[in-house]
Amino acid sequence: MNQKEAKDRIQQLDRELLEHNRNYYVLNSPTITDFEYDILMQELLELQKRYPQFISPSSPALHPGSEYTPSTAMDTEKDSDAQQRGFTRRAHRNPMLSLGNTYDFEEIKAFDQRIRSASDKAFSYNCELKFDGTAICLTYIDGKLDRALTRGDGTYGDDVTANVKEIPSIPQNLLPGSGFPHEFEIRGEIYMPFEAFDRLNHLKELDEEPLFANPRNAAAGSLKLQESADVAGRGLECTLYHLISPESNFSTHSQALENVARWGLPVSEYAKECFTIDEVIEFINYWDVKRKSLPFATDGIVVKVNDLQLQKELGFTAKSPKWATAYKFKPEQALTPILSIDYQVGRTGAVTPVANLEPVQLSGTIVKRATLHNRDQMQLLDIHINDYVYVEKGGEIIPKITAVETSRRLAGAQKAVFPDKCPDCGTELVSIPGQAGVFCPNQDGCPMQRKGKFIHFVSRKAMGINIGEATIEQLWNKGYIKELEDLYSLTEEQLLTLDKFKQKSASNLLASLEQSKKVPYSHVLFALGIRNIGEQTAKTLAQNFKSIEELMSAGREELMAIEDIGGIVADSILDYFSKEVHSHTIAVLKEKGLKFAEDGNAVQKLSDSLEGKQIMITGVYSVSRDEMKAYIEAHGGKVASSVSAKTDWLLTGDKPGDSKVKKAQKLNIPIISEEELYKLTSDAE
Ligand code: IVH
Repeated sequence: MNQKEAKDRIQQLDRELLEHNRNYYVLNSPTITDFEYDILMQELLELQKRYPQFISPSSPALHPGSEYTPSTAMDTEKDSDAQQRGFTRRAHRNPMLSLGNTYDFEEIKAFDQRIRSASDKAFSYNCELKFDGTAICLTYIDGKLDRALTRGDGTYGDDVTANVKEIPSIPQNLLPGSGFPHEFEIRGEIYMPFEAFDRLNHLKELDEEPLFANPRNAAAGSLKLQESADVAGRGLECTLYHLISPESNFSTHSQALENVARWGLPVSEYAKECFTIDEVIEFINYWDVKRKSLPFATDGIVVKVNDLQLQKELGFTAKSPKWATAYKFKPEQALTPILSIDYQVGRTGAVTPVANLEPVQLSGTIVKRATLHNRDQMQLLDIHINDYVYVEKGGEIIPKITAVETSRRLAGAQKAVFPDKCPDCGTELVSIPGQAGVFCPNQDGCPMQRKGKFIHFVSRKAMGINIGEATIEQLWNKGYIKELEDLYSLTEEQLLTLDKFKQKSASNLLASLEQSKKVPYSHVLFALGIRNIGEQTAKTLAQNFKSIEELMSAGREELMAIEDIGGIVADSILDYFSKEVHSHTIAVLKEKGLKFAEDGNAVQKLSDSLEGKQIMITGVYSVSRDEMKAYIEAHGGKVASSVSAKTDWLLTGDKPGDSKVKKAQKLNIPIISEEELYKLTSDAE
C-alpha cells in the first residue's frame, strides 16, 4: 500500500466508522454487526499506527463510543443538539472510557503478560459478564440518586436522571446505615432482558412502528424517551460494575462491589475471581456456551485486575484502562434447514432472496427467516433445496445466512434456481455493471418497486413519517397513492376508510405528514430514493448544492468534481432528474412545503469579502474544520471539496494533503494560509 492508498483508506474508514457510530449510538439502528465493526476499527488502528500523519483529529478511533457527531462533540451544556433531543449535556467528572477488546485468546494472554511484567506482586482478576446494553453513570449524594448521565462522547453525557428514576432496579435512596460514602459515582449498564424486548417489539409491530434490531438498541432508545413515565413500562434492568469513590478505601474491586450491593445497588451475581490466565480462559469458555441460556444479552467477558492499588499503578491509556480488557464472543450461530425461498423486490428493483427456515432459537429470539442477500451470494454459497444453513444475527432485524453445512445435504438435492423474471411484474431481470445481484428494470411500472419507494420515503432516516408498511399497502391498493406527492394530499375521509383506522390514528398520520415538512433538505434528498444515493451521499450533495435547482442543473463533470461522488452516482442523479415524472414530483412536493434548500438562516453573513470565491480547504487549522467552513461561508465564500480549475484558493493548515497541494500548484491556484485568509476578510470589515 502506498501513502496515497493508505491515506484514502484511512479517510474512508474514518467516514464509514463515523456513520456506523451514528447508526449505533444516535439512531440505535446499526447496519453491521459488532464483529464487522471491530474488524473495520482494527484495520483503521493498524493503518493509523503505520501512517500517523493521516490521523484526523475527529477520527472515530480517537473518540470511543460517541453518541455525538463530531461537529457537536465539543459543545457544552448549551449545545442545541442535546437540547433539541430534550436532554441537557453535562460534563463527566471522570471521563467515561471504553475497554480494549479482542476475539483472540492469544491477546488475552498478552494482556496478562503485560501486567505480570509490570508488577511482581501476586494478584487476581475479577471476571465479569459484559452486559450488552447502554452505559450509565450514576451519582449518589447522601444516599440519594443525584444524577444519571449517559456516556455521550466520554467527556460529556446526556442528563437522563428523570428517566433513570423510572427504572425499578435503580434505587433512588440507598439503605440507611449501610455505610455508603457521602458522595460517589457508580457506573454500569442499563439493559433490556429478552422477554421485555420481545414484548416491546410486539407492541411496535401492532402499532406499525419500526422495530428495534436488538435489546441493546431497545435499551438505549428507551433511556432517551422524551416522556419519563413511558420508561417505567419498558422493563429495563441495570447492573453496576465500577465504583469511583475517593472517600472509600477498599483494597479490591470485588470487595468494593460487595459493599455496593450492601448499600442496596444492583450488582451482577455472575462474577468470579480468577488467579491464573487459564482460569480466566476457562471462565470465558464456560460463558460462551452458557450465555445462550441467560435471559439477557451478553457480548463478552470483562477481565479486570482485582487489586485497586495495582489498578492505580497500571493506569490508563487515552481511551481505556490498562488494568482491564474485554474478550468478545463471536456472533452466535444457529444451524437449521431452509424450507423455501422467497424472492423480494426492493425499491431499487434489486431482487433479494429470503429463506424461510425451520424456526430456530438464536441470541434469545426465534428466527424464522434469513436473507441470502442477492443472486451472486446465493450462487457463492451454492444453495440447494432443503440445505442446512448457519444463521447469524447482523445489525439488521432480519438475520443472514453465512454458510451451508454441506455434510448434511441429501443425495440428489436440487440446486436452488434464482428466477430470471421479476416475481412481481414478470419483467426480465437484468444485472447492472459494478453492482452485485440482479434487478427488475421496470422502475416506474413494477408495483413492488413503487410501494418500496413509499416505504423508503417515510422511513425514519428519510422523512420520518409515522406510517407502517401495511398502511402503505392499503393506501396503494385503494389507489390513494401513486406518486410520492400523493401522500400530502391524503384526506381524513380517505384514511377513515382504512382497516383499523379511527379518528385518532387518522389525525396522527396527518400531523406526522405535516411535521415532516420540517425535515432538512438533505433528508428530503435521501427520501426521494434516487438510486445509489444513501444518507451520507445525500448530505454531501446538500452541502455542495444548496438547493434542488442547483443540483438539477449540475452536469456530470460538476457532480464528479465532488469528493466521494463517482461516475455511478453521478449517472444515477442525471438519470433521475431526466424523467418528467420526477421533476413533477419535486415541483409538487416543493409546493406542499417540503424543504428543497439548505436553511438560509443557517449562515449568518459577516461580510462579502469572499463573495464568489471557491476555496478548497486542507490540513488542520486553529479552529475545527466545521468552524472554518462556517467562517468562509459567513464571508460569502464557498467551500469546495476538491481542487478543480474552478477553485480560487487552496487554504492550507498544518499537515496539508500532499496531492491537493500538488494539484493546486499544477493548476496555478494560489495557496493561502489561515492568517492570510483572516487578513483578507478583516481588510474588508
Ligand atoms: S468496565 C473503566 N465491566 O462495555 C471501566 N464494562 O466495551 C470500563 N460493559 O464501556 C467499564 N459490562 O459500557 C465494564 N462488567 C462490565 C461491563 C462493561 C458491559 C460495557 C461498558 C463499557 C463497554 C466497553
